[in-house]
Amino acid sequence: MKECKKDNLYKKKISKSHKFTFDNKVADVFEDMVNRSVPGYDFLVDNIGVLSKNFYQPNTNIYDLGSSLCSCSLSVLEKIDNFSGKVFAVDSSKAMIDICKNNINKEEIKFINQDICEVDVKNTSIIILNLTLQFVDLKKRTNLLEKLFSQLNKNGVIIITEKITLDKESDDIFFKKFHDFYKENNGYTKEEIDRKKIALEKTMLIESEKSHERRFLNIGCENFYKWFQCYNFASWILIK
Ligand SMILES: C[S@@+](CC[C@H](N)C(=O)[O-])C[C@H]1O[C@@H](n2cnc3c(N)ncnc32)[C@H](O)[C@@H]1O
Repeated sequence: MKECKKDNLYKKKISKSHKFTFDNKVADVFEDMVNRSVPGYDFLVDNIGVLSKNFYQPNTNIYDLGSSLCSCSLSVLEKIDNFSGKVFAVDSSKAMIDICKNNINKEEIKFINQDICEVDVKNTSIIILNLTLQFVDLKKRTNLLEKLFSQLNKNGVIIITEKITLDKESDDIFFKKFHDFYKENNGYTKEEIDRKKIALEKTMLIESEKSHERRFLNIGCENFYKWFQCYNFASWILIK
């Protein structure tokens, strides 16, 4: 696991009104948080780069939507030879964008502090939403994906990773327990895990694999593949 500032945000009790947001405190420890909380995170980021290398069309742009600290933006730039466009890293969290602006010096990446629902993508063959859609208002998700898919270049792809619920109750219970165990194994206490779950309840709304796949069909995408699943986290590639 990488050396970075340790996430101790939920070591202490939280107030009843506390809600998880991507503020300065979260941005400051995000690297440690995401690595200790998302099973397969490094694999995901690395392979989003590999998939992008395969589908990238020369002289087009890449959009990393909900880019946080730009792990995916950096991964695609590392993997694609002769990259000839811009990577637009978009995030509504000013704290995340500020950290990136201070730490990343790559002229190919343009940092944009904006709501992804307001973004019009231009000349793009790759759009990435790695663990982002789950934080977008449920009512806006279909419109957002429909717009992105319609603006995507032909033969381009959207890569979407989400935490999911499992349709069969026993499967869902099994994976939720295993995910808790994964976090405990990475040094979080049961209390920290429970506090963060409560904090996330109103911010991160999880959908089932079927709901996602129904939405892909509804926006007119029939050519999609689930290329990753680790416990209750899945990633799809949608091809136009
Ligand atoms: C779990 S993080 C994504 C992780 C990141 N993609 C990665 O691979 O490391 C979710 C990010 O999406 C951003 N976000 C959530 N809703 C958003 C929205 N409507 N518009 C822009 N960014 C959003 C958050 O600020 C946060 O940085």
